[in-house]
Amino acid sequence: MGHAGALVLFGITGDLAHKLVLPALYRLTADGVLDLPIIGVAKTDLDLPGLIEKVRTACGDVHDEAFDKLAANLRLVAGDYQDPGTFERLRDEASGHGPLVHYLAVPPSLFAVVASGLASVGLNQDARLVVEKPFGHDLASARELNASLLRYFDEEHLRRVDHFLGKEPVEDLLVFRFSNTMIEPIWNRHFVRSVQITMAEDFDVADRGAFYDANGTVRDVVQNHLLQILAYLAMDAPPSMEARAQIDEKWRVLRAVKQIEPGDVVRGQYEGYLDTEGVKPGSTTETYVALRAYVDNWRWAGVPFCIRSGKNLPTTDLEIVAELHKPPVTYFKGHEKAVPAHNLIRFRLQPDAGVTFDLLAKEPGKDRARPVPVSVDFTKILGPMEAAYQRILTDAVSGDPRRFVRYDLVEESWRIVAPILDLPDRPLPYTRGTWGPTAAEKIAPGGWHEISTTFD
Ligand code: BG6
Repeated sequence: MGHAGALVLFGITGDLAHKLVLPALYRLTADGVLDLPIIGVAKTDLDLPGLIEKVRTACGDVHDEAFDKLAANLRLVAGDYQDPGTFERLRDEASGHGPLVHYLAVPPSLFAVVASGLASVGLNQDARLVVEKPFGHDLASARELNASLLRYFDEEHLRRVDHFLGKEPVEDLLVFRFSNTMIEPIWNRHFVRSVQITMAEDFDVADRGAFYDANGTVRDVVQNHLLQILAYLAMDAPPSMEARAQIDEKWRVLRAVKQIEPGDVVRGQYEGYLDTEGVKPGSTTETYVALRAYVDNWRWAGVPFCIRSGKNLPTTDLEIVAELHKPPVTYFKGHEKAVPAHNLIRFRLQPDAGVTFDLLAKEPGKDRARPVPVSVDFTKILGPMEAAYQRILTDAVSGDPRRFVRYDLVEESWRIVAPILDLPDRPLPYTRGTWGPTAAEKIAPGGWHEISTTFD
C-alpha cells in the first residue's frame, strides 16, 4: 500500500492528540503537505462542530483560512472501542476513501481492542496501523502485544512510534556521520574514549504521576528514545539510504549492545516525588538514571556509552558528547600536567541544534594549550526544523517506515535494559534542580562533561 487516502485518528479528543497530533496536522495542512479526510474516533458527547472547536483550541494560534481547510477535512465517529457499532459506523464513514492509516493515540491497553474492532469490519485490509509508545512493559509483554497485533496487521503494515525518530536533529546524527568523510575514520574505539548522552528535563512528572510511577526513567525514555539515539551514534553506515538498509544497520548495532549490568547503573528519585498524586507510597521508581552501556563489536569494544536522564534537573537539554583520547605526547615540554583536556565533539539536539568541536589551541603569551569551542548553530545557518510529529504523520500517511521502530529493534531494546528494570533497591534521593545523585558522577569515566549553554 502506498499513500493513504484518509487518516483515522483514534483518541482525537485525548491528551496526546490535543498536545501533539492535532497541532502537527494543522501545520501540515497550513503548509499544504497534507490534505485528506481525517476521521476522528473517540468516546465523546461532542458533535462535529464541538469537535472542530476543540481542535481549534488544540492548534493554538491559527490562520482562519488554513484552519478552515483542516476543519473541512474533519469527520467524527463517536463511540466506545468495545462496541462493534463504532467500527460499523467507521466503516461507513471511511467508505470510498481508499487505503487508510489508523493512528492509535490511545492507551496501549486498547491497541489490540481497536485492531480487532477494525478487523471485524474489514478495515485492517489495505491499511496501516500506527501505535504510540510504550510498546510493552518488558520483553514478554512486548512479545504478547506484538502477537496480538499481528493477528490483524502484518509487520509491513505496522508502525510503532518513537517520536524522537521524527526529530530532525536526531536524524542529523546520521547525516553528520555519513555525509562528512572527516568523522567516520575517527568514529571508533581507537579515537573515542567515551560517549555521553544526556537528556535532562527541568520539570517534574506533573499530572502524570500514575503513568510515570508504573514506568520510571528507564522504561520512559532509555528503552526507546535514548537507545535509538545510541543506535544512530554507533551503527555502521548502511549500504544505501533505503529505509530497510538503515533499519537493518540499527538492528545490527543494537544486537551488539550488551545487557546493562545493575552495577553500571545509578538510579535517583527527586525529593518530594513520593508526594505526587498517583505515586504509590514508598515507590522505588526512579526519576533519574545514569548508566553505562557497551557495544560489543570491533568498532566499539571497551568504549562506554554513558546515558543519563532525569526529571527535575537544572536544564532541559539533549546533548551528546564524544570524548576523544588524549594525544600521546604533550606539545609543551614541562607542562605535561597542564593539558588535561580531551578533544570533544558535542552534538546538541535540544532545545537548539548544532555541533561544537572542543579543540585545543595555544594560549597567547603562554606555553600551554587551552580548549576552544568551534561551533555551528544549525538553525541559524540552515533555518528552522520541522516538529517531530509533522514528520511522523507525514511518514505514516506516505508509508515510509524509516522513522518508526521495527519489531526486532523493540525486542533488542527490551533485552538490553532487562537486567535493570524493577531493581529492588531504593533510588538515591536528589534535590530538585540538581544533576541527580552525586554517585552518578562515577558512571562516566572522568565525570560528566558540562552541558554546553545554548548557541545564543
Ligand atoms: C516522552 C516521555 O516519551 O518523551 C516524557 O514519556 C518526556 O516523559 C518526553 O518528557 C520528551 O519528549 P520531548 O519531545 O518533549 O523532548
